[in-house]
Amino acid sequence: MSTGAYAASYERSLSDPTAFWGEAARAVEWSTPPTTVLDDSNPPFYRWFRGGRLNTCFNALDRHVRDGRGEQTALVYDSPVTGTKASFTYAELLGKVATFAGALASLGVEKGDRVVIYMPMVPEAVVAMLACARLGAVHSVVFGGFAPAELAARIEDARPVAVVAASCGIEPSRVVEYKPMLDAALDRSSHKPESVIVLQRSQARAAVGERDTEWEELDWDELVADAEPAGCVDVEATDPLYVLYTSGTTGRPKGIVRDNGGHAVALRWSMENIYDIGPGDAFFTASDVGWVVGHSYIVYAPLLTGATTVLYEGKPVGTPDAGAFWRVCAEHGVKAMFTAPTAYRAVRREDPEGALVREYDLSRLESVFLAGERLDPDTYAWATRVLGVPVVDHWWQTETGWPIVANLRGLDPMPLKAGSPSVPVPGFDVRVLDETGQEVPRGTEGAIAIRLPLPPGTLPTLWGDDERYVAGYLSVYEGYYLTGDGGLMDDDGYLSVMGRTDDVLNVAGHRLSTGSIEAALAGHPAVAECAVIGVADELKGQVPRGLVVLKADVDAAADGERIRAELVQRVRDEVGAVASLRQVDIVAGLPKTRSGKILRKTMREMADGRTPVVPGTIEDASVLDTLAPVLRPPG
Ligand code: COA
Ligand code: AMP
Repeated sequence: MSTGAYAASYERSLSDPTAFWGEAARAVEWSTPPTTVLDDSNPPFYRWFRGGRLNTCFNALDRHVRDGRGEQTALVYDSPVTGTKASFTYAELLGKVATFAGALASLGVEKGDRVVIYMPMVPEAVVAMLACARLGAVHSVVFGGFAPAELAARIEDARPVAVVAASCGIEPSRVVEYKPMLDAALDRSSHKPESVIVLQRSQARAAVGERDTEWEELDWDELVADAEPAGCVDVEATDPLYVLYTSGTTGRPKGIVRDNGGHAVALRWSMENIYDIGPGDAFFTASDVGWVVGHSYIVYAPLLTGATTVLYEGKPVGTPDAGAFWRVCAEHGVKAMFTAPTAYRAVRREDPEGALVREYDLSRLESVFLAGERLDPDTYAWATRVLGVPVVDHWWQTETGWPIVANLRGLDPMPLKAGSPSVPVPGFDVRVLDETGQEVPRGTEGAIAIRLPLPPGTLPTLWGDDERYVAGYLSVYEGYYLTGDGGLMDDDGYLSVMGRTDDVLNVAGHRLSTGSIEAALAGHPAVAECAVIGVADELKGQVPRGLVVLKADVDAAADGERIRAELVQRVRDEVGAVASLRQVDIVAGLPKTRSGKILRKTMREMADGRTPVVPGTIEDASVLDTLAPVLRPPG
């Protein structure tokens, strides 16, 4: 363990958080500086930078233009799926954002109103997010791979005044029309917005304004043509900037709230200290604006820093080949890139020797960062070998908004260890606990928890639901936030994260809920009960598998194949293709406890070829024997 800058910084962040974060807050421009750095008067609810007023969009755009960065590239749009490349200076991006903010304001969008954004990786998605921030409106971006039911659940909960969508997204195999999905979601939702704005893309134009709807449908281009630019609206540091829904174990997504002040301070701090990115540097995050990684490290952190961000609309492979990432890095002079391990596994599968790496000039690439799922040692070793730069695993969640455990490349680079994302980031008091809440000895696996208060930038609560926030995260261990991940810490203080201890799925770095996939299966008329488990997959880390018990009057022999195909289709239609559910098995029964809880973990262990831990409370252990031939991997 380093005894240098990292240790000093970490120690100070915990012993004197007010001094530590008060200093970090000076990197942000406030219209009114905060009066209280940490408001701990109402535990377990903690608020950062109470009394401070600012505008996040001002900090991301206006201040850089004012300070002479107007002609620097803020955003590069690189879209192999449409054959488009474009770049926008800070001044240009500010112009577009101010105009779209004016357009939203003309529709009555005000501070505190919610705006749902359902868009693919196009610059207008970033413009829409920043325009909301400019007005003090609260954006809620929904990932384009989600189908109508998931979108509807988010609209229902966020209750947006306006929805901003694109006509389509582009997947290598097909054009995905968004407007019919949005229409279906709005039909399902009891909440209706006042306006729907559609960005028309030439690959599939949408029918706009042709349906008889309670809300007004507008064309993005027509709307902005008449709009007057809007200025920045001051908000409280503690006012929400956005709500981003993430998957829990139930089908009801959790609305993670992000505030303005803590978020700006934490992300700005993270860019220099974790990613070693400063003003003027180019940063490339290959993710999607619909995920937290996209919110934080495609949009807000690079722009708050005055860096250049790359928005890549493409895949790691097939658009056109496994050299796409390296081309983007070379062409745009990228200093650091960030993606999910699954993307590197996909590249490795196509180009195991890294031949395509050598076709590009990567001399400016200093490091790569990976997160979103466990970085397996093989992929770590491969990437290190073919790229010849530090490959930095780091661990975090939608809830925290920025890394909990990392190797702080800008503060104090430390040795990297395969299988570990390194050490707790300043501000995060990470502990590994047993079931009774006692810390386990070093080297022993347990539940990973973080002592309260969490640092700035992390969730203050769930949208409109303080109770669920406390029940879901804070009630298991008093005084701690429960991460939902299990792992262990070694003698050097390096953490290894082994995976979720709950039933949350992680498919290709995408977080999905067993509950929503199960709800889609359970809605089929032939299904009596069902369970979904995540099983290990070489490419995607995990893929879901469905197990269904059919109703007594259904003839499985005659209709089983048709039902299985219908179930796979239902999940695509209800949750989205991104769920990647390909296999559904019909079984005679599901293992349960005497109180009726389905033993998913036991089934998961069987499917992964491990010895299952069978709880003593199992109702009927013989069910496991009937499942073994279905679940056990071949060989
Ligand atoms: N909109 C609509 N559909 C989408 C979508 C989107 N934004 N993203 C994915 N899908 C669809 C895909 O087209 C695919 O559909 P299909 O079943 O008809 O082929 C399905 O969802 C599964 O997609 P994906 O998970 O991308 O799997 P894949 O097999 O096509 O590709 C990888 C595998 C590894 C290349 C891909 O998962 C990948 O790029 N992963 C990186 C993940 C990432 O960036 N995660 C962010 C967290 S940091
Ligand atoms: P999300 O909220 O979508 O970012 O997903 C967060 C979850 O992804 C975490 O709770 C972990 O289970 C997993 N995860 C993210 N990063 C890592 C990592 N570096 N190592 C292991 N698991 C990770």
